Amino acid sequence: MSTVRDAYARRSAEYAKLLGTMASVHPSDRQLVTSWADRIIGPALDAGCGPGHWTAYLASRGLDIRGVDLVPEFVAYARAEHPETRFDLGSLDTLDAETGTEGGVLAWYSLIHHRPDTIETPLAEFGRVLRPGGELLIGCFEGPSVESFDHAVVTAYRWPLMELAEQVRRAGFEVIETHTRTSLDQRPHGAILARRADTVR
Ligand SMILES: C[S@@+](CC[C@H](N)C(=O)[O-])C[C@H]1O[C@@H](n2cnc3c(N)ncnc32)[C@H](O)[C@@H]1O
Repeated sequence: MSTVRDAYARRSAEYAKLLGTMASVHPSDRQLVTSWADRIIGPALDAGCGPGHWTAYLASRGLDIRGVDLVPEFVAYARAEHPETRFDLGSLDTLDAETGTEGGVLAWYSLIHHRPDTIETPLAEFGRVLRPGGELLIGCFEGPSVESFDHAVVTAYRWPLMELAEQVRRAGFEVIETHTRTSLDQRPHGAILARRADTVR
């Protein structure tokens, strides 16, 4: 985890400049995340919020949401850019939130650095903090097999969406829908929308 934190810390300003505004977001991602948010009764978490643009955007639409991230530089940046929104330093593996209290968790490209054999930890944690019926939305890199690649910041993983969806299901969620998008200029993208089951296994 410290490798991921240190790698993002070194490039946080660059990342924020390039990807830290809603202008950098693909229109169909904005639509998917917005429609998720419009169904959520807060509180909600932007888990792995980075520079905090999603958190602030969703808060500006009326969602009671806070951002959580591992990287102090991102949390400081997000607080300075979006002083009206709450941002906390924290880990996806041990969220500072009461059990069964959250209406939604957004994990937009924040699980991409978890090794496949460790991803059950944050998924279980999302299941713990969500209320029954609460919704999880994941954005990720999609690919034909689970494999690592040299992401611009630090090693990341791509997943066949059905394999990641199976991990989500095992963590106590009902998978509602999956989305994929391919284009010539970007890595294949995936998204998984899931609802926390009544009882977490
Ligand atoms: C690719 S960035 C995505 C940031 C933001 N969600 C977005 O869509 O721009 C991945 C983010 O996940 C955060 N992250 C990765 N592993 C984490 C962990 N174990 N706990 C908390 N945050 C984590 C990183 O610090 C980084 O901000």
